[in-house]
Amino acid sequence: MTSPFSLAAPTWCRRVIIVGAGGFGREVLQWASDAWPEQAARIAGFLSADPTALDGHTTRLPILGDPDTFSLLPGDGLVLAIGIPQVRRQVAERLAQRGANFLTLVHPTAIVAATATVGTGSVICPQAVVSDAAGLGRCVLVNYHASLGHDAKAGEYTVFSPYATLGGGAIVEEDVFLGLHATVGPRVRIGAGTKVSANSAALVSVPRQTLVYGVPGRSGQQVMVMP
Ligand SMILES: CC(C)(COP(=O)(O)OP(=O)(O)OC[C@H]1O[C@@H](n2cnc3c(N)ncnc32)[C@H](O)[C@@H]1OP(=O)(O)O)[C@@H](O)C(=O)NCCC(=O)NCCS
Repeated sequence: MTSPFSLAAPTWCRRVIIVGAGGFGREVLQWASDAWPEQAARIAGFLSADPTALDGHTTRLPILGDPDTFSLLPGDGLVLAIGIPQVRRQVAERLAQRGANFLTLVHPTAIVAATATVGTGSVICPQAVVSDAAGLGRCVLVNYHASLGHDAKAGEYTVFSPYATLGGGAIVEEDVFLGLHATVGPRVRIGAGTKVSANSAALVSVPRQTLVYGVPGRSGQQVMVMP
């Protein structure tokens, strides 16, 4: 079976379309233009359910339509620019059912080890680091200055906010949200759908669908977990 998340190179695309026109979508327009300068003219615009999303901004490209109804053409390559894992998954899967191809975007200032693996549809933003033998599932978002240490893994649709960090060998499962500056300790495992709050440190493993917040004390106090 062919995956709908094919690794189409931008040169194959007649149109590059950004899915999501919020603040992150506008950032992705810049990151895509930086990553694909030869194809920048092919970036056609955004898909958004909110036709007013770009109002008040000087964005050079328009909203082309709603992701659920927009007519995709052969040669369209989509870049996922949605920052909430569950919404990211929902929108992408509906588009994939309609034949969408997702592009993998790696900003030229990001460092991705030659030994790392990056799933199709993932977006890696400026100054991010994906270290030795680290792995991203498909459609993972690694925002700017976020990092995965050696051997760390992130499951599909997981979102790293800016400066979020995985220690070496840490595993975050699918649909995890890591807030600004969230930290996951070395070899710690974070269950699917869990959220690690901004500036919080998960230094012990937590099950799925958990909210983790706070920083453990030096005395060995555990991460505070809310069901
Ligand atoms: C992880 C996060 C999204 C969870 O949001 P949420 O599901 O709406 O949960 P809430 O913020 O309502 O928090 C639930 C409870 O945990 C508490 N909580 C969450 N994070 C906390 C923290 N860091 N310190 C103390 N308490 C915290 C809240 O006060 C709330 O308590 P209450 O139920 O008694 O009111 C949010 O905590 C967070 O980190 N936001 C920042 C997002 C971010 O970094 N975005 C980057 C975009 S670029």
